[in-house]
Amino acid sequence: IVIKKAEYVASAVKYEQYPVDGLPEIAMAGRSNVGKSSLINSFLGRRNLARTGNTPGKTQTLNFYRVNDGWFLVDLPGYGYAKVAKTVNAQWGPMMEHYLKKREPLRAVIQIVDIRHAPSVEDIEMQQWLRTMQVPTMIVATKVDKIARGQWAKHLKVIAKALDIQDVSLILPFSAQSGVGKTELNEAIEEILGL
Ligand code: GTP
Ligand code: MG
Repeated sequence: IVIKKAEYVASAVKYEQYPVDGLPEIAMAGRSNVGKSSLINSFLGRRNLARTGNTPGKTQTLNFYRVNDGWFLVDLPGYGYAKVAKTVNAQWGPMMEHYLKKREPLRAVIQIVDIRHAPSVEDIEMQQWLRTMQVPTMIVATKVDKIARGQWAKHLKVIAKALDIQDVSLILPFSAQSGVGKTELNEAIEEILGL
């Protein structure tokens, strides 16, 4: 995929606010602060399209980005961070569940984990839930720039084991900072979308 156009289209907290044009979607799931929004920016080659930040809970709505007028990347709010406003936290479950369960154009979820850390309980629950719901899922281990390349395999193995991924090579090492994994992600998305 050559990214020719990428634009912010909508933020939603309920389904009435989702885009209705029926274009296929790929959504990003992961813990707060793991780097979902940064991955979107890096992938699209746009510095500030999705808002990122040092404090967890930056993204609190479902944000839809239309790419090449043909499909959407959806930035989801992160899980596992208790300090976001109570109202937001209370909304999170139903909002995410509704989206992941019912969203007809959803083609796949990219679940993002931090290569440095063993997956959290929430990461594991999310992976199991996606599997139960039969949502096609791809795992990306981001922030690989933060550890030496020689350490990657060891960390990827821990992640694969915790998330019950049979083949470590199915986990894509990525860095929004260095651009590692961008080509592979591009190819994976191409395949998901049948482009
Ligand atoms: P929420 O919206 O709060 O759920 O977080 P998020 O998952 O969207 O994370 P975000 O993209 O805002 O990034 C969180 C922090 O991690 C920011 O300070 C980013 O600069 C940093 N970050 C994200 N990806 C990378 C990466 O690949 N490498 C490094 N070194 N830092 C990264
Ligand atoms: Mg975000």
